[in-house]
Amino acid sequence: MDEDAFVKIYGVAIKYSTCHGSIPTITQFPNIVPPSTGAYRLAGPQAWTSGFFAGLLWQWYSWSLDHPQLVPSTELETLARTWTIPLAVSAQKSSHDVGFLINNTFGADYELTGNEAALPTLIAAAENLLGRFSDRTGFTRSWDRMGPYQDPNKTFLVIIDNMMNLELLFHVSKITGKQEFAEAAINHARNVAQKQIRPDGSVWHLLVCDPHSDQILERTTWQGISDESTWSRGQAWGIYGFAAAYRWTGITLFQEKSIEMAEYFLSRLPKDGIPPWDFDAPEPAVKDTSAATIAASGMLYLISTARPDQPALRKYLLGAKELIHSTLAYARSKPSSFTEKNGHLQIHDLGFESILMHATPNLSQRPPEQIFDVGVVYADYYLIEALQRLERFCGGG
Ligand code: GLY
Repeated sequence: MDEDAFVKIYGVAIKYSTCHGSIPTITQFPNIVPPSTGAYRLAGPQAWTSGFFAGLLWQWYSWSLDHPQLVPSTELETLARTWTIPLAVSAQKSSHDVGFLINNTFGADYELTGNEAALPTLIAAAENLLGRFSDRTGFTRSWDRMGPYQDPNKTFLVIIDNMMNLELLFHVSKITGKQEFAEAAINHARNVAQKQIRPDGSVWHLLVCDPHSDQILERTTWQGISDESTWSRGQAWGIYGFAAAYRWTGITLFQEKSIEMAEYFLSRLPKDGIPPWDFDAPEPAVKDTSAATIAASGMLYLISTARPDQPALRKYLLGAKELIHSTLAYARSKPSSFTEKNGHLQIHDLGFESILMHATPNLSQRPPEQIFDVGVVYADYYLIEALQRLERFCGGG
């Protein structure tokens, strides 16, 4: 990982920290970088994307402990916490996205620094997610309402993205010793494995369930091109989510599903190695670099769980490496210009504010809006995570 990636993240953190006197107050968080401005469009603390920037700062803090940066670890720790604390309000709102928002931020703070002040928010977020679990359906509810599905008493919506929020439940189960958090997560993951993954290892984006039974009413999509297509970011969420579920439980089914999904992802990549936004979109298809980095980091997570009798899983190390190399070659934005003097970093021109370009938040015909070919904070988050995981496996990307 190079200096420029760090300089961009640090520069964004400074640019968007607003201050009342000497106290930073952050109410808006980096989300999307349109190519027309090259500057982040911000979102409020409850947007599903709002934890990734603080998460990036925690990743840099953790990295800086072994790899001295232009800025000392103590300053990075303060900065990461400054961006984390204003997200506490998100733990209270009933939402399946609390894992993205709170585990990557308050959870990271607790894991990296042992800061017990992070615990009440982390536990509140897990309780919030547990409150969305239903014994009848066997799932945690994703969206309350979407499009034609407006009555939560008639439809119970589950999207594959929700696999990513289970780590919050596993994490808090371990911290508190309360099994109900882990049991809900295991139930959810088992039902996704059985009902949402197709026999060829691809995934339906959206399950519409009967809230009063274990019946599935529809297997459909919201963000893919069609019900039977494979939305590439959804496939990536599944690879990662099942690898995580296996790491926390040792349940073989979860590792098997992560492998099947990784296999499918790699088998559908085009020659240039960059995933299209939907694997069934007609060529030339718009790309999604966030699908690439999430899948790469998920594959590295998967192989970190490999048992000694599973040397074949090493192939996903190569798959992840190639994904990262092709994505950086295709989509890396121009470096920022900066100088460093006496331990003081001065950024002259931040340039395009995310490290990667060419991601696709949504290109389906459905609301809220079509946005594509932009930088997104979550592509950078999983890029940096993947690069750190690669270094652990083989001493560099
Ligand atoms: N979790 C929302 C998305 O991936 O677009």
